[in-house]
Amino acid sequence: MSQDRPIELPYFDFLLEDFRQGNSEIIKCFGLHVHWGYWENPTLADGSVDNFAAAAEKLTQKVYQAGGATDGQRILDCGCGFGGTISSLNDRFSNLQLVGLNIDSRQIDRAREQVQPRDSNQIEFVRGDACQLPFADNSFDLVLAVECIFHFPSRQRFFQEAYRVLKPGGKLAICDFVPEQLLQPLIGLMSTFGNSMINNFFGYVDSSFTLNDYRQLARNTGFTPVVEENITQNTIPTYPMLRSLQLQTDNNQLGNSAVIAEWVSRLEIIRYLILSYQKSSYA
Ligand SMILES: C[S@@+](CC[C@H](N)C(=O)[O-])C[C@H]1O[C@@H](n2cnc3c(N)ncnc32)[C@H](O)[C@@H]1O
Repeated sequence: MSQDRPIELPYFDFLLEDFRQGNSEIIKCFGLHVHWGYWENPTLADGSVDNFAAAAEKLTQKVYQAGGATDGQRILDCGCGFGGTISSLNDRFSNLQLVGLNIDSRQIDRAREQVQPRDSNQIEFVRGDACQLPFADNSFDLVLAVECIFHFPSRQRFFQEAYRVLKPGGKLAICDFVPEQLLQPLIGLMSTFGNSMINNFFGYVDSSFTLNDYRQLARNTGFTPVVEENITQNTIPTYPMLRSLQLQTDNNQLGNSAVIAEWVSRLEIIRYLILSYQKSSYA
């Protein structure tokens, strides 16, 4: 494993090349947040890049609200991308100690450039693996993982690490693509045909973890579930947006992946969930 490129994330290669070429639509959609959008009323999505950027910001807010983000906290954002979630927290709260962690140093460099601490806040961006957190036990009030846990080598190790670094009573909040339990065999079949296309564009992705798996993992780790919110239908306008964007790819891998993903989302074969958990106050 090289220090700079420990895992393959082809879509970040394409994004960074688009940024370098000054593709203003891609920069507006993914220069800060790299995740789906959330529309309170999806019928009002207008297909513009500004509307998408606002929806992406809204999704981040939904995740950290599920984790009870508030003034004065020490917050860790795992898989922090280009710093969008840290930037949003920095804009809205005070007296924060914010730490963004990412496995890809190119993303960390961009995050450091574009997100500066406001007033009483402190911000640090650290290169590292979400499954081996380089932080002390009991040192954060809130741990976040916005649309990235499916890339991690192990959800179990990430939950254990999040639990370890959280203070007693601290919270973990994530969002993830979660398959419907009863439809797992169908998803297995679809993966056989669709995985190489998805992996060629997104790199390693594991979308086989069900809500029951999450409940069991939380129990085994010592977490109590707090929020389980299905926002699948609120994210649907993301897909036409993805299809319309011309990323610098050799073929339209983004568009093809978006067609499959829209289909499985509309049918709720795979749901988009916001999940949060609390560590016991007596741990
Ligand atoms: C879809 S992007 C989401 C980025 C960011 N959370 C956001 O919402 O804008 C997935 C992120 O997970 C990061 N990532 C993947 N595997 C990781 C790991 N093992 N540890 C830390 N970050 C990881 C990627 O580098 C990428 O930034």
